[in-house]
Amino acid sequence: MTKFSGKKRNYPTDAPVLVTCGLPYASGPMHIGHLRTYVPADVFVRLLRKMRVDVTFVCGSDTHGTPIVTAAEKADVSPKELYEKYHQHYVDIFPKLNIQFDNYGTTDDVENHERTKQIVCVLQDEGYIYPKDLDSPFCDSCGRSLPDRYVRGECPYCHADARGDECDQGCGRYLEPGELLNPRCAICGSPTRSVTRKHYYFKLSAFEDFLKTYLTEVDGTKNARNYALGWVKEGLKDWCITRDLDWGVKYPGDEDLTLYVWVDAPIHYMSSTEQWAKKKSDPTAWEKFWKPGDGRLVHYIGQDIVYHHCIFWPAMLKGSNYNLPYAIVASGMVKIEGHNFSRSRGYVVWILDDYLDQGLHPDYLRYYMVSYTSQTKDLDFSWDAFRDKVNNELVGTFGNFIYRALHFSKKNFGQIPEGEPDAEIRKKIKQAIDSVIDGVNEYELKKVTDTILSLATLGNEYFQENKPWELVRSDKEKCAHVLFNAVYLVKALTILIDPIMPGVAEVIWKQLGSDTDIHSIPLSDAIEPPIAGTEIPKPKPVIHKLEDEVLAELNESIETRIRSAEAAEKGESIDMPTVSFEDFKKLDIRAGKILSCERVPKTDKLLKLEVDIGTETRQIVTGLAELYTPEELTGVTALFLVNLEPKKLAGVQSQGMIIAVEKADEKGKWLPVTIEGVPPGSKAA
Ligand code: MSP
Ligand code: ZN
Repeated sequence: MTKFSGKKRNYPTDAPVLVTCGLPYASGPMHIGHLRTYVPADVFVRLLRKMRVDVTFVCGSDTHGTPIVTAAEKADVSPKELYEKYHQHYVDIFPKLNIQFDNYGTTDDVENHERTKQIVCVLQDEGYIYPKDLDSPFCDSCGRSLPDRYVRGECPYCHADARGDECDQGCGRYLEPGELLNPRCAICGSPTRSVTRKHYYFKLSAFEDFLKTYLTEVDGTKNARNYALGWVKEGLKDWCITRDLDWGVKYPGDEDLTLYVWVDAPIHYMSSTEQWAKKKSDPTAWEKFWKPGDGRLVHYIGQDIVYHHCIFWPAMLKGSNYNLPYAIVASGMVKIEGHNFSRSRGYVVWILDDYLDQGLHPDYLRYYMVSYTSQTKDLDFSWDAFRDKVNNELVGTFGNFIYRALHFSKKNFGQIPEGEPDAEIRKKIKQAIDSVIDGVNEYELKKVTDTILSLATLGNEYFQENKPWELVRSDKEKCAHVLFNAVYLVKALTILIDPIMPGVAEVIWKQLGSDTDIHSIPLSDAIEPPIAGTEIPKPKPVIHKLEDEVLAELNESIETRIRSAEAAEKGESIDMPTVSFEDFKKLDIRAGKILSCERVPKTDKLLKLEVDIGTETRQIVTGLAELYTPEELTGVTALFLVNLEPKKLAGVQSQGMIIAVEKADEKGKWLPVTIEGVPPGSKAA
């Protein structure tokens, strides 16, 4: 794999930076997976501002494509009604999380339709787009063509179960229409037929050499670069950029076709910047980022959309003569208690219902999201880990030090005591500032929180070692000096934690007796000692422990959701396609008596049965070894399907199948259908 060639880079104050976030699909409410993009991006923006870099931060709702259309169909509303509802949800929820965009639009805004058409027209003029016939899946029983999420099948690369445009359960590749193996309709499950019609293709293959170079140079996280380079090296296919769908941006010049959502979605990064420029009555201000020049584009995304941001997007920008992304920062994925994120299986945490509406502080979650693990690693969410972070780090280390330092100063001096900054403390603060800046330049915000936590630990140690509670009686001047330095650390910690926990920082800042706006204080001010004699109000602990009862409720709500999702899944399976009586009659189901039973060597699950089925004795292999001992099954009479085609399991021939039912309340618990007293060979019908 090619190594990132970049020297150590940094963010100077004279190059304007535009930070964007992967746009949420306005098809459902915000969940914790989304926050892996939005929280680090917002923290990064706040840190850059503290470093006095000129930053603009834009985002918007993604309102097109099959994610929206399928959700609208389910909810029985129009795509526009659906996206308007969820767009409003996002507009409302971001500020509650202290995530503040300079502009938040939608991909359906007129600016985005216009800019998309402009870019597609340039790509056409430059010869990067051509029409071609495409065979794409069609469902006869639903009577519709099946773009993207309307079809599922097997990934031709890794053979995982995948959806039409993406191997979402396997290798993560983008898939072209028609590429899936064994495609079936995602709505009714029928196999599909292919229909041929004209579509438009973008000459992605023409950008291979460009991308190979670009991707070794682009800044950001190495997962983004390396995945994308790997795909480019396998060779790029041209990209079909139109779909048979009514909803979306119409293809300019061929209004029967709609552009694929991944054409107009990233373009909203540009049109959202245009909206921001218009709002501040400086309509050309967006150009400083998007026209070639010193402006820097930084995209925050999750690892699931690296292909789109590192391959399609730079090629589109290059082909239409715009500026290229300076950095692509991709996060690892969020999992829930070890399971892949899945709304349908209940492995999800909703930000409004499960978190904010429970009265939990947004800053705790912000801290958790950036401090839990490194930017590129997966984040395995659990409420227990969340509680530990809050109770041990935020309350036990950080909050405890802040409170002790302020409380002691207030109680004994009523103000910030007189003292001189200690050289050692000053040095540690200086190192902390440098390390925070390194964290920004490396897109590794865990480094920032680790640094802050170490500085708070140092504060606690300083307090413990110097024992101001003894000094206050023996040497009041020394006591004042120690507390002055403790408050010096509190002040530095408040400035450093502000980008991560803006709400908490505001409160501590006031407790320091300051009436300025903490968010406008630069990072470099952390090295400035506090002003002795400043009166301080009575401090209160700012961070609160998560109590066990609260935690138990949070855990319970996840468990309930997972259980009801399982139940719903079972309910849904009643909707399976019907079977004709003719077909049913083909099944030969009989009572069989298990004469003997033994484990199949070198397997965990398999048991080999000798079964008397009336006419003969059959060898049948079954996967029940984890649930039953051979002794428990020997002598039992159960139902068997005896005309299933013979199959070898772990090298052992099986001539039939035991019929078992899965217990509705205990997934994975199978009970053979036993029928005592019925002679072997009796037929079921
Ligand atoms: N609409 C597209 C992005 C278009 S960008 C031009 C999309 N939407 S999304 O709602 O599915 O995701 C929004 C953001 O959240 C993306 O950055 C995505 O990577 C991130 N995440 C969504 N679920 C995630 C996890 N479970 N884990 C980590 N991040 C994920 O993709
Ligand atoms: Zn795959």
